[in-house]
Amino acid sequence: MKPKIIVARPIFEEVLTRLRAHFDVTDNQADQAWTLASWTAQLAQHDGALTTGIDPVNAEVLKACPQLKAVANMAVGFNNFDVLAMTAHGVQASNTPDVLTETTADFGFALLMATARRLTESEHFLRRGEWKQWRYDMFAGTEVHGSTLGILGMGRIGQGIAKRGAHGFGMKVIYHNRSRLSPELEAECKAQYVSKEELLRSADHVVLVVPYSAASHHTIGAAELAQMKPTATLVNIARGGIVDDAALAQALRHRTIAAAGLDVFEGEPQVHPDLLTVPNVVLTPHIASASVATRMAMANLAADNLISFFTQGRALTPLNTVGA
Ligand code: DGY
Repeated sequence: MKPKIIVARPIFEEVLTRLRAHFDVTDNQADQAWTLASWTAQLAQHDGALTTGIDPVNAEVLKACPQLKAVANMAVGFNNFDVLAMTAHGVQASNTPDVLTETTADFGFALLMATARRLTESEHFLRRGEWKQWRYDMFAGTEVHGSTLGILGMGRIGQGIAKRGAHGFGMKVIYHNRSRLSPELEAECKAQYVSKEELLRSADHVVLVVPYSAASHHTIGAAELAQMKPTATLVNIARGGIVDDAALAQALRHRTIAAAGLDVFEGEPQVHPDLLTVPNVVLTPHIASASVATRMAMANLAADNLISFFTQGRALTPLNTVGA
């Protein structure tokens, strides 16, 4: 008998077809919204699951799912998982690193440029029919080339953004991370390690790429925003909750920083109402990894993780070690 898996959210038909060759698959192509209770009840009837970054697998959920053996997240971030609890329950956790690095770095840079050069604000102005004539100061923004790029969180995506900034735009790159990069990687990224305080004080553009955890909650709040230059921009492509969105909306309204670009939000898909009313913010709905090719690669890697676990006993890109 094939193991039973559930695919929590809609996914490429090709990937479902691959999964059906190995598993008895429950899909959710209709995009039925789960409550925590209905999700838990569904999961409890399966041996494995393919989740996205929003489907919770925590101690409470796991208690109701003794049959569950493996959950593959179609995301590099896994703050929807309690990995310790998964290990304790003998459930293999996996994510999709690497395949989205360059695409997400592209988007981080796009959001930085859109924010600095006031792309959406000026487009809305044009669409409202308010463009009457050219003016020297119309939507004059912040320089990107030659400026100082500060990257908080220097994993693979942070390094991708650093390379784009340093090599493509002649930016001075500074970074802060839990651990310092090797001298070789620092040279490759042309990046200089600094304290968080120095980064906030000196960067013209701050990009956040830190993973979310209790320890990184509100890494950027009112105090940190106050340390930034009034001309600086802030980009968050990491996770909601890394930034205190209420404090950010205040800083944008009072122009204590110039602008922000946000792809992720506290409590998304809800967006703090104050962020919707300030003009100097570019808002996108958590799409940093959303190129067709990359989403396909993520879906295939998540599927391969399940196939590998159920045929070889180990996911290809595991987050924990389970079993004998
Ligand atoms: C990721 O892979 O973590 C992206 O944010 C999509 O959830």
